[in-house]
Amino acid sequence: MARHLITSAIPYINGIKHLGNLVGSQLPADLFARYCRARGHEVLFLCATDEHGTPAELAAAKAGKPVAEYCAEMWAVQAEIARGFRLSFDHFGRSSSPQNHRLTQHFAARLDAAGLIREVSEMQMYSRADQRFLPDRYIEGTCPNCGYESARGDQCDNCTKQLDPVELINPRSTISGSTDLEMRETRHLYLRQSAMKDELERWIDTREGWPVLTTSIAKKWLNDGEGLQDRGITRDLDWGVPVRKGDAPWPGMEGKVFYVWFDAPIEYIACAQEWVDAGKGDDWERWWRTDKGADDVRYTQFMGKDNVPFHTLSFPVTILGSGEPWKLVDYIKSFNYLNYDGGQFSTSRGRGVFMDQALEILPADYWRWWLLSHAPESSDSEFTWENFQASVNKDLADVLGNFVSRVTKFCRAKFGEVVPEGGAYGAAEEALIATLTTRIRAYEGHMEAMEVRKSASELRAIWVLGNEYLQEAAPWSTVKTDPATAAMQVRLALNLIRLYAVLSAPFIPDAAATMLAAMHSADDRWPGDVAAALEMLEPGHAFEVPEVLFTKIADEAREDWQARFAGVRG
Ligand code: MF3
Ligand code: ZN
Repeated sequence: MARHLITSAIPYINGIKHLGNLVGSQLPADLFARYCRARGHEVLFLCATDEHGTPAELAAAKAGKPVAEYCAEMWAVQAEIARGFRLSFDHFGRSSSPQNHRLTQHFAARLDAAGLIREVSEMQMYSRADQRFLPDRYIEGTCPNCGYESARGDQCDNCTKQLDPVELINPRSTISGSTDLEMRETRHLYLRQSAMKDELERWIDTREGWPVLTTSIAKKWLNDGEGLQDRGITRDLDWGVPVRKGDAPWPGMEGKVFYVWFDAPIEYIACAQEWVDAGKGDDWERWWRTDKGADDVRYTQFMGKDNVPFHTLSFPVTILGSGEPWKLVDYIKSFNYLNYDGGQFSTSRGRGVFMDQALEILPADYWRWWLLSHAPESSDSEFTWENFQASVNKDLADVLGNFVSRVTKFCRAKFGEVVPEGGAYGAAEEALIATLTTRIRAYEGHMEAMEVRKSASELRAIWVLGNEYLQEAAPWSTVKTDPATAAMQVRLALNLIRLYAVLSAPFIPDAAATMLAAMHSADDRWPGDVAAALEMLEPGHAFEVPEVLFTKIADEAREDWQARFAGVRG
């Protein structure tokens, strides 16, 4: 048994996330967490809302609410939707928690003591119309790198380059739209990332088997030196973690807060403290401190590709620079983007399907299956309604759902609602068990490697085996001449349903629970020996025919949704 610490990139608080956000971090993290638990490992799976920075302030202003109130409300909304998607976080925290405030201030003090922070007097964009500095997303303009016209002050959403507001071409205030801007002097703290380059490089070189997408981004940043320029970690904003040196004030930094990207990853640790303080766990240090047992922990992070530089460079600099024995990430699983029907999902333009809307039209399992089986791993992928309809109807309804319903209904009709007795395996059954064994071991391999699409297609292939067996065995004919053999075939098929429930639970937890309940089984142990796993429901064991597991998506419904989500979110 191993111990797995698993974190998903923490979603910004401003608004409900779209399906592209979901499949880029939270959902695959949940898949892995569920799989690890199913294999008997000890898991701590954490996520939170990312509440600071200009996106939160801007969204609160738009909603006409004080930012703290807005964040509290949106946290509750996101937590509820996460439950709806069956995201099995052990704790869903908040980066605005007192725990994170303390820990962020602690890290800043440690970095300062290590000589890794310098104070800089610099010129920042100031808006005369708004009477304030315009950090990060308070300013927009043309990206100096790629020419994208709506680049934000801190990062270009088009080419992912991290920016400084003063680099933008044709800058304008996102509060008032004003272009009446000037440069004004202000003092800020800079993290001396450049001083950590060698140590960071050594650490990255020890990371084995990281996905290409992750290491290529990290190396590019290291070698361009682009990501390792010293970085401003404070902002002229009201909302955020006040700049303090641990418990002590930081002279000259009054009224300033830490930059959101400084405190957000620290929430991964603070979230474990929140988990303990909420009474859900009793020891966070054995997950996070290598001097307290966390060196046995395997730590995996999930995120979209735009987040990779912060997790391969910035956050490790914070951790390593502290000189304290904090756990560093062992594996970073990153994702490309999911596009929507010929374009991009867009939160600002309300384009695509958002998490709340998705759950209004179909249960979580439909979405989980499609998203995971089409996860944008090796390249960007695209959601189209036709493809969604086809996958749901074929994989879930025709292959899995139909198998469950045919087997249970046939048994009820011929043998009653109990597992029938009699008969003995022949060549077909031995062959099925051998193929299943090979495929299940392959499935485990893919799940352990977090190869999400490969896992999904292996699971689908495992479902298909059941249908093929049924077609070949044809118990509906066998029963006429050889009822004992038909009983054996049906008994095997009923056991397959239970086995499928166990194997499928990480992908489609609700359907899996329905299948197990229909089989009157509480035993969801992962199959070691497949032959033994297929004898767990013994002759005489009662079951029931479940409700239809998956309803097919009709063309009219698909067209309806297609039209409904084509426009702008109302
Ligand atoms: N909120 C960021 C996003 O949605 C992710 C932050 S991840 C963490 O892109 F590292 F800051 F925690
Ligand atoms: Zn750009």
